[in-house]
Amino acid sequence: MKDSIRDLIQQALTRLIAEGVLPDGLNPTIQVENTRDKTHGDFASNIAMMLAKPAGMKPRDLAQKLIEALPADPSVSKVEIAGPGFLNFFQNSAALAQRLDAALADPHLCVSKTGPTQRVVVDLSSPNLAKEMHVGHLRSTIIGDAVARVLEYLGDEVIRQNHVGDWGTQFGMLLAYLEENPAAAESELSDLEQFYRAAKQRFDDSAEFAERARELVVKLQAGDVDCLRLWTRFNEISLSHCQKVYDRLNVQLTPDDVKGESAYNAELGDIVAALKAKGLLSESNGARCVFLDEFKNAEGNPLPVIVQKAGGGYLYATTDLASMRYRSHQLHADRALYFVDQRQALHFQMAFEVARRAGFVHSDMQLEHMGFGTMNGADGRPFKTRDGGTVKLVDLLDEAEQRAYSLVKGKNPDLQETELRQIARAVGIGAVKYADLSKHRTSDYSFNFEQMLSFEGNTAPYLLYAYTRVASVFRKLGTSMDTLAGEIQLEAEQEQALGAKLAQFTEVLNGVGEKGVPHLLCSYLYDLAGLFSSFYEHCPILTAESETEKQSRLRLAALTGRTLKQGLELLGLETLERM
Ligand code: ARG
Repeated sequence: MKDSIRDLIQQALTRLIAEGVLPDGLNPTIQVENTRDKTHGDFASNIAMMLAKPAGMKPRDLAQKLIEALPADPSVSKVEIAGPGFLNFFQNSAALAQRLDAALADPHLCVSKTGPTQRVVVDLSSPNLAKEMHVGHLRSTIIGDAVARVLEYLGDEVIRQNHVGDWGTQFGMLLAYLEENPAAAESELSDLEQFYRAAKQRFDDSAEFAERARELVVKLQAGDVDCLRLWTRFNEISLSHCQKVYDRLNVQLTPDDVKGESAYNAELGDIVAALKAKGLLSESNGARCVFLDEFKNAEGNPLPVIVQKAGGGYLYATTDLASMRYRSHQLHADRALYFVDQRQALHFQMAFEVARRAGFVHSDMQLEHMGFGTMNGADGRPFKTRDGGTVKLVDLLDEAEQRAYSLVKGKNPDLQETELRQIARAVGIGAVKYADLSKHRTSDYSFNFEQMLSFEGNTAPYLLYAYTRVASVFRKLGTSMDTLAGEIQLEAEQEQALGAKLAQFTEVLNGVGEKGVPHLLCSYLYDLAGLFSSFYEHCPILTAESETEKQSRLRLAALTGRTLKQGLELLGLETLERM
């Protein structure tokens, strides 16, 4: 709807330019916002205030001219001037109701992408395999997953890339440990964290071991068969740990999405050669770098992207350049999104710039770092265990499920054990994910079990429960949300407000896809659930005054239910029919 209002305004502008009321060559970005207060209409634009100066008119006078020039549109019932010169648009409820009926009739809820569909690479999760996944990997995994789902739903072709760290110097240490005592090591590998610690201990205690570890890295990188076998074995185990976490988190990642750093190993020499051929390479203390004038250090000197160390080894940035080239030239991506900690912002800005200058990516390919903030503990400091260690993701999820279990059992002591477990899983895991997804991606946030498991406020339990309330309306009636006769009529104030919100689903999803921010969808679902509550309270369904009214309200409830369910699914939350 915002788009069609922007269209109407554009047509009015074109007309006023042709009539000489507005000067030629104006090409403003037309802003249209949803109004907070429905007595001021449904949408507002500040266009008259923006253009008053170039037009040499008072904003309210220009607003009047614009209203006169606006083409008639059946979905707009009236347009008014407000305050200093806002244009307030009132949508026609019959036209709105028709749009809602169309959404209800469509399995895809009439959601579509604004603009052309694209082929999008989503770089997500990407843990280092030397260690077990810890809470630091949660955000990349679930935010990336939610955005990937939304883009797919909008019609984009999404290629998930799990750029795991499987090729660092730590692997020498791990291989040395594995080689030293294969049998013991195998059993210890069930706990990667412990395995890593044990290997590190050996490394720190024994100079001879450390030396062997360094030799093994060299052998590994030179393609030694025995080394590769050990390395493969280690990665298999580590990846199977990751896969368990993904499945448990209900994240759409599979082993096929893994394309780790090692996959680009054979291309790194070529990347450096290509940079040289382009005249981009400099030497600095034996290391090979690309200096970028627009990035400077504290002393004002250009910062380098180091692509090869003096000893010949390649770096994280070199691999990223190779992966960008692959994503552009091999995968033919129009857009690549990197869900990686905000602290790597400079790395990505610089790597993107080098990739562009070197022609590693097509000139119109969009490269976007979707950085995120830190997950902190209640004390506002990075989340740690009581003794200061990193929190393993599995432990966190165990605790979430356990807490949800007690909570649900407390509220519902008669539930069967299996159902209780199922609800506890959906609520516990959902709560952890939702708490994260509902914050703005770039902000830090404090992890707080009590808050995320509360049934009040913008939380998973609240929304999952809101959905079960809608579902129960239909269960009591013995009908399904998908087979309803009649049509929607928006009469009561609560029906109008709910209807207007429902019509925004497609716009919200487009926002999530464009900016990579799932919190927009969370706020939307939260508002929607709130509007449904007041509708449900003020507009009786089963005791409606007429059959037509009852059908209309049922249809509104059904569209709410389906939108909530679809929205939660796009966030990667499992919904429940009852809880
Ligand atoms: N493995 C890296 C880390 O844990 C993240 C990789 C992100 N993706 C990328 N293409 N650099 O910090």
